[in-house]
Amino acid sequence: MKFFIKLIKYLFPKTFELLDQKRVRFKMRKPLKWASNNCSDTEKFMKNIDIKIFNETNEFKKKFESKAERILSKSKVWQGGGGAYDLIYFLVMKTKPFVVLETGVASGFSTNAILTALKNLSFGQLYSSDLPYPNTEGSKEAIGILVEEENKKNWTLCIDGDKKCLKKINDNIKRIDIFHYDSDKSYESRKFAWDILNSKFEKNTIIIYDDIHNNFHFRDLVKQLKVEYKVFKFENKYVGIFVYGGKLDFNYFFSPMLPDG
Ligand SMILES: C[S@@+](CC[C@H](N)C(=O)[O-])C[C@H]1O[C@@H](n2cnc3c(N)ncnc32)[C@H](O)[C@@H]1O
Repeated sequence: MKFFIKLIKYLFPKTFELLDQKRVRFKMRKPLKWASNNCSDTEKFMKNIDIKIFNETNEFKKKFESKAERILSKSKVWQGGGGAYDLIYFLVMKTKPFVVLETGVASGFSTNAILTALKNLSFGQLYSSDLPYPNTEGSKEAIGILVEEENKKNWTLCIDGDKKCLKKINDNIKRIDIFHYDSDKSYESRKFAWDILNSKFEKNTIIIYDDIHNNFHFRDLVKQLKVEYKVFKFENKYVGIFVYGGKLDFNYFFSPMLPDG
C-alpha cells in the first residue's frame, strides 16, 4: 500500500495533492462539525467582559490590519494566516499576564498582538517557539516580520521547533499566565506541548488552542479536565479557550499580582 501511494505521488503529483486534500478534509469533518456546533460569538464574549477593552481592541485591530497588509504585500514569503489576534490582544489587556508562551510565530500576527498589549501594560514577557517552514526560501528571515521593532524588548524567540524550544523555555520560567498554541496542528504535537508545560499553569492560566477543527485534541482535553470552555470562529477556522482552574470567569483578573520568586 505504502509503495502504491509513493508511486502515485511520483507519477501523478497533482492527482496525489488533490486526493490528499480530500483525505484531510474527510478526516476533519467530525472535529469541524463539533467546533461549529459549539461556537460562540467572539464580539459578544469580549463586550460582555469589558466594553472599554473591547473598543481599544477594535482600534488596535484596524491599525494593525492595514499595517500588516502593507508589510505582507511586499514580502515574497507566504507564511499563512494569523491566529485570532483580536481575541488574544483583548485577553492580554484584560488579564495582565506576566508570562505569555506561544507556539507558532510565522509572520507574527498573534506575536505582535501580544507584544503590543504587553507594551501598553508596561510589563510582561512573551516566549515564542517556532520552526521555519521547510523548503521555503526566506522563511527563517520572515519569522515575525509583523512584529514592531519597539515591541521586541519583551520577547524571547526560539526557532528550533517545539520539541527543543518548549523544553528550553520551560526550564527558564516559573509560571505561564497565557498559553497560545498555534504551531504543528497534529494531535500528538498538541498533546506533547500540553504534557511539557502544564506543570507551569496556574489556576487562572488562560489556554488558547488554535485550529481546533483539525482534530479532536481540544474536545478531548476539555472533556478530560471537565472545564468550562468557549469556541470561536476566526476567519475560516476555530479557536478554543479555557481557564486552567476550570471556571471561565474573567473577574479574577482585575489587578496584577506579583509572581512568586
Ligand atoms: C499558523 S502559523 C502561526 C501563525 C501565527 N500564530 C500568527 O498569528 O501569525 C504556524 C507556525 O508554526 C510553525 N511550526 C510548524 N511546526 C512546528 C513545530 N514543530 N515547532 C514549532 N513551530 C512549528 C510553522 O512553521 C509556522 O511558522
